[in-house]
Amino acid sequence: MKIEPAAAIAGHVAVPGDKSISHRAVLLGTVGEGETRIGGFGRSADTESTIEAARALGATVYEHDDSLRVFGVGLHGLRDATIDAGNAGTLMRLLPGLLAGQEGRSFELTGDESLSRRPMERVAVPLRAMGARIETTDGHAPVRVEGAALAPTTYELPVASAQVKSAVLLAGLLARGGETTVLEPVPTRDHTEHMLEAAGARIRTRARSVTVWPAERLEPGDLEVPGDVSSAAPLVVAATLIAGSELTIHGVNLNPRRAGLIHVLEHMGARITVFNRRRIGGEPGGDLDVRPAKLVGATIGAQDVPSLVDELPLFALAAAYARGESVVTGAAELRQKETDRIEAVVDGLRALGAHIRATPDGFVVRGVPARLRGGTLDARGDHRIAMLGAVAGLASREGVEVKGADAVGVSFPGFFDLLDSLRQTS
Ligand code: S3P
Repeated sequence: MKIEPAAAIAGHVAVPGDKSISHRAVLLGTVGEGETRIGGFGRSADTESTIEAARALGATVYEHDDSLRVFGVGLHGLRDATIDAGNAGTLMRLLPGLLAGQEGRSFELTGDESLSRRPMERVAVPLRAMGARIETTDGHAPVRVEGAALAPTTYELPVASAQVKSAVLLAGLLARGGETTVLEPVPTRDHTEHMLEAAGARIRTRARSVTVWPAERLEPGDLEVPGDVSSAAPLVVAATLIAGSELTIHGVNLNPRRAGLIHVLEHMGARITVFNRRRIGGEPGGDLDVRPAKLVGATIGAQDVPSLVDELPLFALAAAYARGESVVTGAAELRQKETDRIEAVVDGLRALGAHIRATPDGFVVRGVPARLRGGTLDARGDHRIAMLGAVAGLASREGVEVKGADAVGVSFPGFFDLLDSLRQTS
C-alpha cells in the first residue's frame, strides 16, 4: 500500500480500546463469577483470539460492536481446550497462569509463525517453580499445560515484562496456602493489578513488587476500556511532524506506565496538551490536542523503556526529524517482539533516508529537521512496523510503499481509514 505525503492531518478522533486491557478484561471475565460487561472493547485480530480462547475454555461471550458480555466459569472451572493464540503474545503469555492451576485438565496453546518464534520459557520457568506442569517446544509454542496443584512463590523477573508478571500473579490466585510476590527490575504496565483489585482480589503493590493472595472468586462486573495510547501514538507523531496539523484524540489511557512516548515527545519539544483529565475504567485518562513542533533529540535508557516499549519504533521516526542525536539503550527486548524491532526499524527507516544505526540493545539516530525522502518499508508481518511506515509516508517527501500493510489489523483494523479521514491535501 502506498502512503502519499500529507499537507497536514486534522480532525477529532477516538482510537480503539486499549489492547492490553481488552485481553485482560476477557480473561478475567472468563474466570469470573456470572456476567462481566466490557465497554469500549478494542476489537482487533489479537483480541478476537482472546474471545475465541474464552469460548474454548467454556465461557459464553456475547458481542455487540465494542460491548461484550462474558459469562464466566469461575476460577477453577476452565475446561480442556486447544487454543490458537494467533499473533497475540499477551494471550499466549497470560493464559498459562490461569491454566496451570486447573487440576485434572489439559490444554495446548499454539500461535502463528511469528508468535511461535517468541520465547515462552520466561513464563514456564516461574510457573514450574509453583508446581505447574508446563512444557514448551524448544522454548516456544506449542505449549502444553497439565493443570496441577500450585504453591505460592516469590519471583524476581530477570527482564521487565508485564506479561510474565501477569502470568505469575494469575497463577498466584490459584495457589494454595499463601501469597505470591513478583519483583520487577523496572515498573511495567500495571493493568492486571488494577483489574484484579477491582474484581475483589487481595493485592498489594509496591514500587518494585506486587503481591497477590489466593482468591475464591473474582467479580469483574462492569469494565470500561480506555482508548489505547499505543494506537494514539502514530497519530500523535504524525501531527507533531507535519506542519499545519491540528489533531484532537479523545479518551486516551494516560497511565504513566504506558504513556512514556507522550512525555518523551513533550521533552523533545512537542506541543501536546492534555485536557479533560479523568479516570476511564479505573485508569488515568484524558483528551490530547496535538500541534506540530520542532523537536530536539532525546536519550532513552532501560528505566524508561517499559513505559514506551511498543512506541520505540515511532520514537525512532520522531528522532529522525529532531535536531541532534537520539540514543536508545536497554531495549534488547525489542528483538523479542512480533519481529526483531531493532532490525526492522533500522533497516526500514534507513531505506527511507534516515540516519540510524542499530546497537545490541537499541539504536542511535542522527536527526535532520526536514522531511525524509520516502521509499519502501517492509512491515515484516508486524503491526507496529506497518503503522510506522504509514506515518513515515505521511511525513515524507515522496511517500512510502508499506509492504504487508494489512498487519495493522492485529491491533488497529480501521487504521488506514482513520488516516484517510484526517489527511488534508492542501
Ligand atoms: C504487554 C506487555 C508488553 C508489550 C505487549 C503487551 C501486555 O510485553 O510489549 O505489547 O499487555 O502485558 P512484555 O511484557 O513482553 O514486555
